[in-house]
Amino acid sequence: MGIDIQVKIAGLKLKNPILTASGCFGYGEEAADFFDLGKLGGIVTKSITPLPRTGHPPPKVAETSSGMLNAIGLTNVGLDKFITDKLPQLRAIDTAVIVNIAGTTIDDYKRLAEKISAAAGVDAIEINISCPNVDRGGLEFGASPESAAKVTEVCKRVSRIPVIPKLSPNVSDIVAIAKAVEDAGADAVSLINTLVGTSIDIDTRKFKLSNRFGGLSGPAIKPVALAMVYKVASSVKIPVVGLGGISSGSDAVEFLLAGASAVQIGTACFAEPNIFERVIDELTAYLQNNNYKNVTEIIGAVGKN
Ligand SMILES: Cc1cc2nc3c(=O)[nH]c(=O)nc-3n(C[C@H](O)[C@H](O)[C@H](O)COP(=O)(O)O)c2cc1C
Repeated sequence: MGIDIQVKIAGLKLKNPILTASGCFGYGEEAADFFDLGKLGGIVTKSITPLPRTGHPPPKVAETSSGMLNAIGLTNVGLDKFITDKLPQLRAIDTAVIVNIAGTTIDDYKRLAEKISAAAGVDAIEINISCPNVDRGGLEFGASPESAAKVTEVCKRVSRIPVIPKLSPNVSDIVAIAKAVEDAGADAVSLINTLVGTSIDIDTRKFKLSNRFGGLSGPAIKPVALAMVYKVASSVKIPVVGLGGISSGSDAVEFLLAGASAVQIGTACFAEPNIFERVIDELTAYLQNNNYKNVTEIIGAVGKN
């Protein structure tokens, strides 16, 4: 009893550190039948692009050992429809609303950040930088410190709300990218997005995904995500939001101990839409059983005992 589980990220006060992950919770409508969304620390929306996208043709997902591969292709309603049709219901929920944006040019990100930041009821912008930069031959924005910093700087310049670049794990040095976006003015970073993977059907001898490659997520990626969160949190001063394979309170605790100030849950909520309630309860029980009064006491506490 009396345990404080509030956290602060980039000036945002969250009622608890458990958030939804982009692309795994839509705009919140479906899950509203399963639990009170006001219990969430925050909702991170599906990536919003300047124009509506239908995404890749099926098959878009494939099961893997302890995880899944997806090649959804950023299916979403587009910027204008998001603001008119989706945002009103999101802002009515008593939780932080973080809008994830994705583009294929620097100008796309600028326009998205400008419009989203001007729309009432958005608390922060998460930038999906795992997208191909058409001006640089399709290389992901998140693949180099320079282009990751450029996107961040442009979004910061036009945005009145906190900007949180979401880092890609498909790089040789994620710490260098984190430092570059911190220098470019990021208010926090989130990590990790999915790891590139594929899967082949041996009977048809074809790739299981229409796009051939997809993003690997779920419990299979947790150790990779945790190591990256620890390395980044030890190297930057801005807050870190951790995600990748979290499906229990003890997983969340591991990420907090590694230095994350909050966590997101993605793949695990497909099988258990109200998992967030359970993870909040399990996190609170952990704090109580270990005589902590405040969740912030465990952030980055690994190795300090
Ligand atoms: C079906 C699916 C769709 C996703 N869509 C997005 C997206 O639109 N934007 C984004 O930044 N990340 C997207 N992600 C990545 C997740 O937000 C998250 O970074 C990743 O899945 C790792 O977390 P998890 O293991 O808890 O799912 C998606 C993941 C899945 C499984």
